Amino acid sequence: MTSMQQQSVSDKAAAAVVGAGYMGGGIAQVLALHGHHVLLADVDAEAAERSRSRLTEQAQRFEDEGLMPAGAGQTVAANLHAARSVEDAVASADYITEAVPEIAEVKSEVLGRISAAAPEGSIIGSNTSALPIGELAASVTRPERFLGVHWMNPAPFIPGVEIIPGPQTPDAVLTAAEDLIGGLGKRTARVADTPGFVANRLQFALYKEAARMVEEGTARPEEIDTVVSNTFGFRLALFGPFAIGDMAGLDVYESAYRTLERAYGERFSAPRMVADAVAAGNLGVKTGGGVLDIGGDELEALLAYRDAAYAQLSQLRSRLGFAPGLEGAAQH
Ligand SMILES: NC(=O)c1ccc[n+]([C@@H]2O[C@H](COP(=O)([O-])OP(=O)(O)OC[C@H]3O[C@@H](n4cnc5c(N)ncnc54)[C@H](O)[C@@H]3O)[C@@H](O)[C@H]2O)c1
Repeated sequence: MTSMQQQSVSDKAAAAVVGAGYMGGGIAQVLALHGHHVLLADVDAEAAERSRSRLTEQAQRFEDEGLMPAGAGQTVAANLHAARSVEDAVASADYITEAVPEIAEVKSEVLGRISAAAPEGSIIGSNTSALPIGELAASVTRPERFLGVHWMNPAPFIPGVEIIPGPQTPDAVLTAAEDLIGGLGKRTARVADTPGFVANRLQFALYKEAARMVEEGTARPEEIDTVVSNTFGFRLALFGPFAIGDMAGLDVYESAYRTLERAYGERFSAPRMVADAVAAGNLGVKTGGGVLDIGGDELEALLAYRDAAYAQLSQLRSRLGFAPGLEGAAQH
């Protein structure tokens, strides 16, 4: 096993970000803020320098606005540097993020250059939104050091990052990447290399159904956004669909699916895992043993946490007020 793959988070691995645009820039800020020495590369040295300057100023602004901790501006300025080329950026890097545009040919070309110039023991993560990691891996020499590390926008403030193994990525590389990203204060989840991974597949399924309702005249976009952000979307800030389902009761879910299936057809039939759980008497927190098997001794504490968290989230939203431009959409 090679250097990065043996390192612990506290080693403050040297990082390179290739593609210093919207996502790469945010990722670079987070890495720099957490003490990593970061080299930024873009199409040329001037573009990299422009990004460095923009990102440093922005980090200071985030600090001034209380969005980043005290000292963030200075820390980012000290740790973030522009490289002359992709090759220079990655030559001594332990961890490399590729965040060039979502065009397969561009990513393949850049990943080929990165992997030719990077140290053998480095880890190379692609921020692709949807291109299969298995296909991109074909452009990487020593593809066992390659994986998907999918951040969300805006990278400094969204806590979740998807970790996607390529066909040859060993567990040690995945764990090292998870440790590094976890050390940046992010929450990782390991998911399979399938189109859209988890986040985008779910996000686009929701969007599609919402668009269908607009097309059918069920509600206007403004009303749908109001319903989502004030009801189940409000819950989703704290819990995933399975925790919510277990708290609601899987028997309730199964019967709701039966109604929806009668109206909308097979695509709304009850999922097999729900039907099986209900048949076995595992209805969620009320019986113990739902999909997540939560509850038991901790049930009371969980429900108290839920109520306190929802109340505080409501208070936070009241303090924040309506999002500019969306007042008419009655966001909340
Ligand atoms: N924007 C989002 O909301 C979002 C969210 C998650 C993931 N992503 C993914 O992140 C990646 C980057 O997206 P973005 O929105 O930051 O794009 P962007 O256009 O803001 O940034 C891309 C950067 O790459 C640079 N670049 C282009 N060709 C290059 C090359 N050959 N060598 C070096 N640099 C090059 C560009 O100059 C630009 O600065 C994409 O794969 C995208 O799908 C985007």
